[in-house]
Amino acid sequence: MTDLSAELLALARAVAAEAADLVRTRRADGVSVAATKSSAVDVVTDVDRAAEELIRDRLLVARPTDAVLGEEGDDVPGTSGVRWIVDPIDGTVNFLYGIPQYAVSIAAEVDGVVVAGVVFDVASRTEYAAARGAGATRDGQPIGVRAPAPLAERLVLTGFSYSAERRAIQAAAVARMLPQVRDLRRMGSCALDLCHLAEGAADAYVEEGTELWDHAAAGLIAEEAGAQVAHAPGAGGRNCVIAAPRHGFEEFLGLVQTCGFLAG
Ligand code: IPD
Ligand code: CA
Ligand code: CA
Repeated sequence: MTDLSAELLALARAVAAEAADLVRTRRADGVSVAATKSSAVDVVTDVDRAAEELIRDRLLVARPTDAVLGEEGDDVPGTSGVRWIVDPIDGTVNFLYGIPQYAVSIAAEVDGVVVAGVVFDVASRTEYAAARGAGATRDGQPIGVRAPAPLAERLVLTGFSYSAERRAIQAAAVARMLPQVRDLRRMGSCALDLCHLAEGAADAYVEEGTELWDHAAAGLIAEEAGAQVAHAPGAGGRNCVIAAPRHGFEEFLGLVQTCGFLAG
């Protein structure tokens, strides 16, 4: 780990923990939808906005020349070569309903490469973290992916788009995959899905249509824990993320292809 990655990781950790405290406290006060975004089911709450404001403020006070890309605000350009990628609440629908599966996600890129990432599971107070080349941790302890298993015994995590059209394509692909694997889960947070893969609580993840802020931090955590994370054009016209332990990746990718998740 370089000195810069270590510095960025330390800052991401502190800021993610503080934002998670805010999200937890504000949830206890009650939550409602503030606005809808890409569709009627794509919601944002005041807490998403408040958490992102806090994160941007802390990052830019500490490092004023960095760039920021965040889900709930305008892109901030920078001059340092470092860009922060922020999802203040990944799993907003779970947050809204009180399902304890949502997280703060903060990644740091240097010259376009993600070098540090933190995903903080708000409800369970679990911190997942990684720096490039230094492994992945859960609450400071090293984590790793599951041992190899035949496809029929793999538990696969997935998610669905906020677009009804794209969902129909995803549902058809999922219907083809379901009889060929142990089971599927749709838990509602891309970032936590990838962290569950990283800690060995699932065998694979596939989803089309997520954004960089959903998977930047958790993708590094999964890779550092022994997963391969790949991107390919999805059947619905958006980027599809495919992730599995390195030892079983090619076989899973083949299944993803034959089930119709990908274009062509
Ligand atoms: C969503 C979650 C969900 C995934 C969606 C994302 P949000 O993020 O990661 O699991 O299926 O594609 O948009 O809206 O809760 O930040
Ligand atoms: Ca998200
Ligand atoms: Ca979000």
